[in-house]
Parts: sequence; C-alpha cells; structure tokens
Amino acid sequence: MAVLELLQGDITRLTVDAIVNAANSSLRGGSGVDGAIHRAAGPELLAECQRIAARRKGHPAGACPTGEAVITGPGRLLCKKVIHTVGPIWYGGAEGEPGLLAACYRNSLLLAKEAGLESIAFPNISTGVYGYPKAAAAEIAIQTVKASLSKAPGIKRVIFVCYDEENYGIYKSFAGLWSF
Ligand code: APR
Repeated sequence: MAVLELLQGDITRLTVDAIVNAANSSLRGGSGVDGAIHRAAGPELLAECQRIAARRKGHPAGACPTGEAVITGPGRLLCKKVIHTVGPIWYGGAEGEPGLLAACYRNSLLLAKEAGLESIAFPNISTGVYGYPKAAAAEIAIQTVKASLSKAPGIKRVIFVCYDEENYGIYKSFAGLWSF
C-alpha cells in the first residue's frame, strides 16, 4: 500500500523518482513551479519539451491538452523523470474544471506507473496562476490520488508538496482524508 506524505518546500529539491510540473499546454515553460523546475533542470528539459511539442504540431489543444500529461527526463534535477501536466484554469467551476484537475493527477500517476516509478511528488496544480480554489483543489488531489493508487500497486510513495503556507494549512486540515 502506498504512503501519502505532505511536505512544505521546493519540489525541485526532492530526490523522488518523478516530480510533477504544473505546465501549460505549449510546454514552453512559465512562471510558478513551471519556472522553478525549468530553472533547476536547465535548458535540456525545455529542449525535450519542445521536441514533444514539435511532434504534436498542429494539435488543436496544443502540445499537451488540459488534463493530460507527458513525461521527460530530469535535466539537471535530482529526480529520474519530470511529468508535465496541464491543470485547468479556474473559470468558476462550471467549465469542467474539477474533472480536468482530477485527470491531471490520474494521468500523471498512469505515466509514473507505465515508467515503473515508485515515488512521485505533486505540486498544488492549478492553485497559482490558474486560480483554482485551494481547498477544492486539495480535496480533488487527495481523493483522485487515493482512487488511482489501487490501479498502480508499484507506486509506494506520493508526496504532496506545498510551497505556500495557505496550501500547507489546507492539506493538513484534510488529515482525515490521508488514511486509506
Ligand atoms: N515547489 C513547489 N510548489 C511550487 C513551487 C516550487 N518551487 N513554486 C511554486 N509552487 C506552487 C505555487 O505556490 C502553487 O501553489 O505551485 C502551485 C501551482 O502554481 P503555479 O505554478 O502558478 O501553477 P498553476 O496554477 O497550475 O498555473 C500554471 O503557470 O507557470 C505557469 O506555465 C505555467 O501557464 C502555466 C501556469
């Protein structure tokens, strides 16, 4: 059975098998955790993202549609892989945002499973630039990860990495959800 962990800090410093990036659909890098990961990983990560984007040139939803995920090497990061997923922008909740956010966690775990990885760290996807309400996002994150792990027995450790105090306090308040 996998262990769910909560951590406050910088996801780029973790030596887990995979860290998840809250990317955008162009995979061109950005600010927030996307910017932090690319800064720490170096130019090789962006080059690999651009190769993926080139293969999906002309795709109407961009290199990586919202809710989907792609996997790359780590560049100079300490992890083995980076999983880039694109969270939904919050438009009020009636545009399918909850389902798309859940898909980010589900699809990231699927890629980790397919890559034979055992540990994965998630940032608080969509809760920064994309404006997703933090408590609602936290509940979706924890519930979706718990539901998905039953199909990924090889994954032994999932870490929710909160960078800001608010998210950390919210995840701690959901302690009751942690137990399987
Ligand atoms: N480690 C862990 N979490 C971090 C880090 C870090 N080094 N830096 C920021 N975060 C947190 C933020 O505090 C926020 O809680 O990541 C969470 C997600 O915020 P964003 O990075 O803004 O991501 P998101 O809201 O999904 O918006 C994605 O922003 O950077 C662009 O290219 C990206 O267009 C995309 C959009």
